[in-house]
Amino acid sequence: MPDWPAEGNGASGADIHQPSVKGTIIATSGIRGTFFDFIDDPWKHVGREEESARFLQDGLLVVEDGLIVAFGPFDEVSPLHPDLDVTEIRGRIITPGFIDGHVHVPQTRALGAFGEQLLPWLIDTVFPEEARYSDREYARAGSDRFLENMLAGGTTTVQAFTTTSTVAVEEFFEAAARRDMLVISGVTGIDQFAPEGSTSTPEEFYDDSKAMIAKYHGKGRNRYAITPRFALGASDELLKACQRLKKEHPDLWVNTHISENPLEISNLLLAHPDCTDYLGVYEKYELVGPKFSGGHAVWLSDNEFGRLSDSGGAVVFCPCSNLFLGSGIFRLAKATDPDKRVKMSFGTDMGGGNRFSMIHVLDEAYKVGMLGNTLLDGTTNRITQDLAAAERSKLSPYRAFWSVTLGGAEGLYIDDQVGNFEVGKSADFVALDWNAGPSAMPWHQSLFFGEAGPTTMAEAAHALFAVMM
Ligand code: GUN
Ligand code: ZN
Repeated sequence: MPDWPAEGNGASGADIHQPSVKGTIIATSGIRGTFFDFIDDPWKHVGREEESARFLQDGLLVVEDGLIVAFGPFDEVSPLHPDLDVTEIRGRIITPGFIDGHVHVPQTRALGAFGEQLLPWLIDTVFPEEARYSDREYARAGSDRFLENMLAGGTTTVQAFTTTSTVAVEEFFEAAARRDMLVISGVTGIDQFAPEGSTSTPEEFYDDSKAMIAKYHGKGRNRYAITPRFALGASDELLKACQRLKKEHPDLWVNTHISENPLEISNLLLAHPDCTDYLGVYEKYELVGPKFSGGHAVWLSDNEFGRLSDSGGAVVFCPCSNLFLGSGIFRLAKATDPDKRVKMSFGTDMGGGNRFSMIHVLDEAYKVGMLGNTLLDGTTNRITQDLAAAERSKLSPYRAFWSVTLGGAEGLYIDDQVGNFEVGKSADFVALDWNAGPSAMPWHQSLFFGEAGPTTMAEAAHALFAVMM
C-alpha cells in the first residue's frame, strides 16, 4: 500500500506528526502490531474512560477483500489462521482510519486566506476558486490532490462538499472510488448570496441531485448527501427541493452548515421571521433527524442542542475553522451533556479550517475544550459554575480518538461499516508513529514508556495525547 505524499499545510514539516496510511487491504492477509480502538463513548465513562477502549499490545487483524474477518490478541487469533500472509508493523499504534465529518473538496488550493470572517471570505476567496471545478480536468486534479492530502493525514472517510456542478461531484466520487474510500457527498445547493457561476436554480439543483443519486448512491463505497450549502444561501424553493429529495430518498444523508457566524445568523433570521432560531429553518423543511449533520454549531442555544438531541441529528465540531475564521467557541460540554447528548463528528472544514489533518483538529479541539473548562469551572463566573460540564470540556486522548473514529462514524450513521476493528467492518486503519514530530518527541515519550513502545492502555493513551499535541 502506498504512503501518500503530503502536500502543503496539512501534514508537512518537521513539527507535524504524519501517520503512514495503509488503506484497505484486498485479498486475505493479516496485520500484526499494537492496536487501539473503541467499543463505547468515553464521555459515558467519566473517571474510567479506559472501559470504552481496547488496547492490544500484540494484536492480529485478519482482512479478507477489505473486510475484517478476525481481530484479537495475536496468540489467540493466529492459530485459527495458520497460512495467513502476515505483515508486521512495529513502532506504531494502529488505530481505525480517521473520519472527517465536514470538509470542502474544492477549497484544497485556497485554504489559509488572510483576514476575513465567514461571509466576505466566501465571496473573496471561496466562490471564485470553487467555480473552477466546472472544468473536468481541474475537478479531477483537485479531487486527487484533496484525497491524497486526506490520506496523508490518516483520514480514510470524509463527508465532503463539492460544488453546484455535477462535473465536480462526478470527479470526486470517481476519485474516491479509485482509492476504495468511503465518502459521503452530493451536489451543493446554493441559489442566493453568491455570484452567478456559483449558484444554480432550485430546478437545476433538484434535477442534478436526482441524476447524481441514481449514478452514485450506494455504488461501491459512495454515499449520497442532499447538500444545501447553508440556509442563508438557500431560497424557500431550494429548501423545498431538499425537502422533496429527502422525502423521495429517506435513506440519504443531509449535509449542511449551521449557526457558524453571528452575522450569518442574524441575516438568516431576517429572512425567516417565522423561525426563532437557525435550527428552526432546517426543521421547517423537515431536514433534521438521523443522518442530518450541521457543521460548526458554534452559536446554537441550549434549546437547539436539546431539539437536535431528540431528533438524532448531529453537529460537526470544526475547531481549526472556528478559530481561523474567528467564528467562535464550540460548546463541547453542551454537546456532550448526558441528559441531552447530541451526536457529534469532528471535521477539518478545510479550507475554512487551515489544516487537512484530523490530528491538527484534535490539537485545536483540546484548546477550545480547555477554554470551555475555564469558563465553566467557576473561576470567571461563580454563578455559571458547572463542574461536571467543566470536566466534560476536557478532551482526553480517549475522547479525542473516539471522536475521530467510532464517535465520528456514529455521528454520520456509518458505524455499521467503519469506526473500529469489529469483525464485518472495513479494514480502514492508520499506523501512527508516536515518535514523529519535533526531534524532542522520543525523549518526551520516554517519560511514559520504554523504547519498545507502550505496553499498557494508559501508556498508549499518553502516547496518543503526545501525538495530538
Ligand atoms: N457556509 C457556507 N459555505 C461555507 C463554507 O464553504 N465554509 C464554511 N466554513 N462555512 C460555510
Ligand atoms: Zn464547511
